[in-house]
Amino acid sequence: MSHNLLAGKVGIISGALNSQSIAWKVAQKAHAEGARIVLTNAPLAMRMGEIKALAAEIDAPIIPADATSMEELGTLFTEAQAHFGGKIDFVLHSIGMSANIRKGKSYGDLDYKFFQQTLDVSALSFHKMMAVAEKQDALNEWASIVGLSYIAAQRAFLDYTDMSQAKAVLESIARSYGQRLGSLKKVRVNTISQSPTKTTAGTGISGFNAFYEYADKMAPLGNAPAEACADYCVSLFSDLTRFVTMQNLMHDGGFSSVGISEAIVDAITKASAESAQ
Ligand SMILES: NC(=O)c1ccc[n+]([C@@H]2O[C@H](COP(=O)([O-])OP(=O)(O)OC[C@H]3O[C@@H](n4cnc5c(N)ncnc54)[C@H](O)[C@@H]3O)[C@@H](O)[C@H]2O)c1
Repeated sequence: MSHNLLAGKVGIISGALNSQSIAWKVAQKAHAEGARIVLTNAPLAMRMGEIKALAAEIDAPIIPADATSMEELGTLFTEAQAHFGGKIDFVLHSIGMSANIRKGKSYGDLDYKFFQQTLDVSALSFHKMMAVAEKQDALNEWASIVGLSYIAAQRAFLDYTDMSQAKAVLESIARSYGQRLGSLKKVRVNTISQSPTKTTAGTGISGFNAFYEYADKMAPLGNAPAEACADYCVSLFSDLTRFVTMQNLMHDGGFSSVGISEAIVDAITKASAESAQ
């Protein structure tokens, strides 16, 4: 059901790779709430072609940009403003990639070139997007910028390897740039720390199914699905959350506040009883 929460607003959404992507659902919901959108992704993702179906569905142009390139981000913000005929009201950063994870490297055996690439793609790109937007004065007052994070920024999840550090940097950038853009232009910057979600990036992590099931059993509300994450993004893009900024907002069904759940106690009790037989 639409509430027209984003009527008259225009925004850039990165990271829609396929229909599982969190950004894909955000684009659909933002469109349903009345926003006009420009989609962007790395040129490689563009060649995979699925994003074109989303672009047709929500009548949005696609402007390719490698989020590590200031030049390509510059073109993205210039062309997006030309398309909208004005400045931008919201930006979604939904970008993550670790070659160390892709290649199954353990935390003690990380490739440092890959590590730097992980930080560049998954965290510094957030800074670069805001730096380009600031330099072009591309954002309207009360614009909202959202990045997607994960609780491995605060807690150790070894299989998440260097992405844990990338998320810690991402969340820190949201605070620092949130302070700067808030004073300069009344722009809000937040990260949403999302439950494990079955997407291309998510399922690429070794042991993902165990992470997913564990979090689902711990969280009193269960894991938050991608659609609910998209609803939360829409609320942050809307005028209903104008004074929320510089926050890392947990969107995890309560996972981060639970010590242990009955479902986990039951599972361990059952497994212990079985192994004692
Ligand atoms: N899936 C999960 O369990 C989960 C949980 C918490 C947070 N997140 C975060 O959500 C965000 C979106 O991931 P997703 O789960 O929807 O997976 P996804 O694989 O659908 O999206 C990741 C996107 O990053 C894009 N990307 C990679 N390198 C890029 C570059 N150089 N320039 C521009 N774009 C680039 C990819 O093309 C892809 O569209 C990521 O930041 C991810 O870390 C995911």
